[in-house]
Amino acid sequence: MSPADQGLPPWRLLLKQARLKEGHSPMGRWLQLASIGPDGSPRVRTLVFRGWWNHNSLELLTDGRSAKQQQLQRDPRVELCWLLPKAQSQFRLRGHRHNLDQGERMQRQTHHWLRLQPEARALWGWPPPGQELDSAGDWPTAIPDGTTMPDSFALLRLEITHVELLELRHSPHRRRCWGSEDGWQEVALNP
Ligand SMILES: Cc1cc2nc3c(=O)[nH]c(=O)nc-3n(C[C@H](O)[C@H](O)[C@H](O)COP(=O)(O)O)c2cc1C
Repeated sequence: MSPADQGLPPWRLLLKQARLKEGHSPMGRWLQLASIGPDGSPRVRTLVFRGWWNHNSLELLTDGRSAKQQQLQRDPRVELCWLLPKAQSQFRLRGHRHNLDQGERMQRQTHHWLRLQPEARALWGWPPPGQELDSAGDWPTAIPDGTTMPDSFALLRLEITHVELLELRHSPHRRRCWGSEDGWQEVALNP
């Protein structure tokens, strides 16, 4: 275990090992984020994992004008499903959107904005997502370095409180869960 791994919840180490198996594949950073729609029905979509903030909080980037942003403002509860195919592992991470104060939000958003490639930034210059196609709108292919971060650029910090892992490489499959309320004690489950 590296010094950086000391004190991490046990599921974080397992997730790290499973992600290592994916190598440099961009798919190893794709996860599905479920939220609750205004009518109480589930909504799910894929996002790119942008990094850990602390032991049990991770960061994602999105468009502040998107439906998910409004849903999470109404109801901060989330579930992430992170499939690591090479490890044949499914992690389900449950928690809520963490509310950052204005200063920290701007500081973290700026950090992420500066790290993005100009082509990746372009999305935040497009017309509002989810609205009827605006063919006459401005659709930049890149936003160059040095451009001020647009208001549409939004950080989601999710605090994880429950984790469940299913591994298919064992027979029978292996399933276990952890909760923050008891210090991440592992509980084995029937698969
Ligand atoms: C591979 C992949 C990666 C994506 N990454 C992101 C992302 O990091 N952030 C994001 O907001 N949307 C991302 N999307 C788009 C979302 O899946 C979704 O279509 C969009 O955010 C609108 O969702 P909403 O209407 O539920 O808010 C990605 C889609 C794919 C297919």
